[in-house]
Amino acid sequence: MVHFCTPKCLEDIKMIFYYNNSAIYYTLQGNGPALLLLHGFLESSTMWKEIARAFYKTRTIITMDFPGHGKSAVVAEEHTMEQFAEITNALLTHLNIKKCSVVGHSMGGYVALAMAELYTHNVEKLVLLNSTPAEDSPERKLNRERALHLIPKAKDVFVRMAISNLFAETARKKFQIEIEHLKAEALQMTTEGITAAIKGMKNRKDRTTVLKSFPGPKFMICGIEDPILPFQECKMITKGSGTKLFELHVGHMSHVEATASIIKIMHFIENNCV
Ligand code: MLT
Repeated sequence: MVHFCTPKCLEDIKMIFYYNNSAIYYTLQGNGPALLLLHGFLESSTMWKEIARAFYKTRTIITMDFPGHGKSAVVAEEHTMEQFAEITNALLTHLNIKKCSVVGHSMGGYVALAMAELYTHNVEKLVLLNSTPAEDSPERKLNRERALHLIPKAKDVFVRMAISNLFAETARKKFQIEIEHLKAEALQMTTEGITAAIKGMKNRKDRTTVLKSFPGPKFMICGIEDPILPFQECKMITKGSGTKLFELHVGHMSHVEATASIIKIMHFIENNCV
C-alpha cells in the first residue's frame, strides 16, 4: 500500500470519512507499516505535524480529529472513549488497515487503551504519551463537574485556563507562543464538543488490567513535571503492568516541550521492538 505524500501536503490536506453521516477528518500519508497517532483533549491532528514529518518516509501515518475536535463534527452528547475507539477502528477498516502501532497523547491514550481492549488484534504496539490507564480520581471527577458547569457560561475562560494548566508553571513563559497557538485552535471548538469529551473522560473506566494483559510491546512516556498526571503514579503503573517507561523532564505536553526527545523515543520503539 503506497500513500506517498510530501510533508507540505501532510499539513494541508485533511480527508473526510463519514461515520453514521457525521464527517470525521483525517490525514493519511507516507509509506510502510501503519502508525496511528491519536491527539489529546482540546487538541487536533495538527499536534502531530512535527512527529509525522519525522516518520512519513518509513511509516504510513494516520491522524484524525476526534469528534468535536479540529474539523470533526460532534456526534453525541457524551463522547465515550469506547465510541472514539469505535470510530477510529471504523476509519482503519475504511482504509483497509488491519494492524497498526497506536500512539495516544493523554485523552488519545485513553482511546488507545479502549482500542487495545475492544480491537486487541488490530493494535500492534501501544504507546501512552502523557497518559494513563487509571480512571479519574474523585477529586478530578469533581473538577470535571465544575468545568461542565462553567463552560456553557464561560467557554473561552475555561479553554484559556485549561491550556495553560497543561504546562508546568515554569514552562509557561518559555512556550508562550506555542501556548497561544494551542489556545487559538481550542477556542474554535464548540461548547458541545468540549463538554462531550469531558463527560467521556470523567466516566471512563480504569483500564490498568487492559494494559497489563495487552500482549504486544507497550510503553508509557511520562513527564516528571506533568501537572495533570502525577509521575509517581504513572511509574507505579508501568511497574505493575510490565510496561516500559520513558521519563522526560517535561510537563503534560512533551510533544511541544521536548519534540526531539519524543521523536527519538518513537524511533527507538518503532525500530527495536518488532
Ligand atoms: C488531555 O490532555 O487529553 C487531557 O488533559 C486529559 C485529561 O484531562 O484527563
